[in-house]
Amino acid sequence: MSYEVSRVKKGENVKFKHPNPAFYKAIGKEDGIRKLMYDFYDIIYESDISHFFPQDEDEFQMVKEKNTKFFIQICGGPKVYEDETKGMNLDEYMIRLHDEFSITEKSRYEWLGCMEDALRKVDIPQELKDDFWAYLESFSKLTVNSFSDGSTYYAAYTASKES
Ligand code: HEM
Repeated sequence: MSYEVSRVKKGENVKFKHPNPAFYKAIGKEDGIRKLMYDFYDIIYESDISHFFPQDEDEFQMVKEKNTKFFIQICGGPKVYEDETKGMNLDEYMIRLHDEFSITEKSRYEWLGCMEDALRKVDIPQELKDDFWAYLESFSKLTVNSFSDGSTYYAAYTASKES
């Protein structure tokens, strides 16, 4: 089932589970997540969705670091992203943070493709990568807000609680 992607259906109730903490341990905790996320952003930089991200090097560096902190926390590590969420639930905050960007299904595929390339370089059991992938594949549906018929739809957090 590795690296499969199913399509977004506008308005669907997306269920997702946070990654298994065994993934976090196997990858090498904070250092391992940092390496994965820095690789990921290097790949993003060369991709068709690079225009979504800051072109200024310092700003891009800040996104890399915040992204790393988020993934450390969501994967079961210390709560190093907590201060960013302004008291909001972490998942809800992350969905809402993407509202300001017009994210299509195509850009979601590209984003997932960059993550797949970065994950392929990680030498840990495939079933742990599959578990992490399952989180990314489902949660990323909630960031898609712009559809091919020209309409927009912003996923409600209440419709997507962790299963
Ligand atoms: C599993 C799905 C996703 C997760 C968990 C996720 C996570 C994140 C995180 C943690 C950040 C940094 C937050 C911060 O600045 O505090 C971020 C920023 C961002 N993400 Fe995502 N993301 C996901 C999917 C996507 C997709 C599909 C796109 C499509 C293009 C995308 C585009 C962006 C953009 C444009 C930014 C902000 C860059 C900036 O601050 O200028 N994300 N994302």
